[in-house]
Amino acid sequence: MSPAPRRRSGGDIKTKVLDELRFLRNWIGNPLTTGAVAPSGPLLARSMAGYINPEVPGTVVELGPGTGVVTEAILERGISASRLVSIEYNPDFCALLRDRFPGVHFLQGDAYAIRTNLTGIAELPLTAIVSSLPLFTRPLAERQRLINTALDMLAPGAPFIQFSYALVPPVPHGAGDFTIERSNWILMNLPPARVWIYRRPAKA
Ligand SMILES: C[S@@+](CC[C@H](N)C(=O)[O-])C[C@H]1O[C@@H](n2cnc3c(N)ncnc32)[C@H](O)[C@@H]1O
Repeated sequence: MSPAPRRRSGGDIKTKVLDELRFLRNWIGNPLTTGAVAPSGPLLARSMAGYINPEVPGTVVELGPGTGVVTEAILERGISASRLVSIEYNPDFCALLRDRFPGVHFLQGDAYAIRTNLTGIAELPLTAIVSSLPLFTRPLAERQRLINTALDMLAPGAPFIQFSYALVPPVPHGAGDFTIERSNWILMNLPPARVWIYRRPAKA
């Protein structure tokens, strides 16, 4: 039997507590950008990563990795580190992530400038985008622009995967050419969250 993969974030209690403290400290310093007081739970992270099809080749992009709970779930889903590019605004988180996940390309920058940030780094179309950005802290027009730019960069039908704690989708129906799917509530996450999947249908 092959050994279980070594968990790189939150796997042992000391790492988990240190990550929670780091998160809380960053939230106190910048609540709107950090977007949560603690990292997401592994069930939510695995649920997000579950919408990626690892059989489809190409680059997977993560937005807002934080301390890496979702990054880890993406790697465990079968996406190799060399296929993953991750954009994080916070330099403290970036330093931790580079140490924790060798081989993943972490860009320190603004995910809302996704096209500029990925120029020359990721070949299009992308295979999937997994976002933990606190979208509701931005005006609707900015969220809409982000989703539509991201969908333009993805292959038709490929997922833009976003979690939120809200009852309504972070970008509503009708704000672009996309479908929206949503998961059930993940009640084991604190606070309970769900996953929204945006896709641009292939042209007939
Ligand atoms: C709610 S936390 C999620 C962190 C982690 N993915 C998790 O689920 O535990 C949001 C993350 O997005 C990052 N972030 C917020 N705005 C950003 C932006 N404009 N560009 C890149 N990262 C951003 C924050 O620094 C933070 O790490």
